[in-house]
Amino acid sequence: MAQQHTYKKAPSAAEQRTYSLAQPVVLVGFMGAGKSSVARKLARNFGLTSIDTDHYFANHQGMSAGAYIRAYGEAAFRDEETAVLKKVLSLPPAIVSCGGGIVEREENRELLKEQTVLFLRISADEARSRISSLDSRPLFGDIEAARALLARREALYEEVATVTIDTSGKGVGQVTTLVQRELKERGILCLQ
Ligand code: S3P
Repeated sequence: MAQQHTYKKAPSAAEQRTYSLAQPVVLVGFMGAGKSSVARKLARNFGLTSIDTDHYFANHQGMSAGAYIRAYGEAAFRDEETAVLKKVLSLPPAIVSCGGGIVEREENRELLKEQTVLFLRISADEARSRISSLDSRPLFGDIEAARALLARREALYEEVATVTIDTSGKGVGQVTTLVQRELKERGILCLQ
């Protein structure tokens, strides 16, 4: 019988080490900014946990954020979203990616101000080009509505942000590298 060889890719320097988070890291920004993709990539790179508030919501409600907004309206969704935010921030420190409208509620903003928050900035036009289907995002609207919504929210994102990262023209890998640098410099991503 022929001998089989399996070749494994050598682990990267980051993979060989164990990292931990000293506190939760929260990603905010407009729909399409890449929050959940960056959170997942960071978690993969460093063996950490990522939690997306919309996924957490969907797992517990049995329907997506978009479907819930269509069925029950935005205000009902925001109530549930606040409960989700409180819950995920009470769990062991994780990379938390938030739905784009988390900053709408003052109560959420007060909670976020106590955290390390990275605001992934994007224009409404670039966000639109990154979103394949708007069906899951009933609040995006048409491009004029999205520009107006983002213009109003920009100050709210800034209000809670510890750091702002401009993601325009950058892919998930590049943004993740910038986030990693910030977290290491701030002593939040620690080698165990
Ligand atoms: C929303 C953004 C969505 C989701 C919901 C409302 C918003 O999350 O929470 O549709 O108000 O901006 P993403 O930012 O992940 O698309």
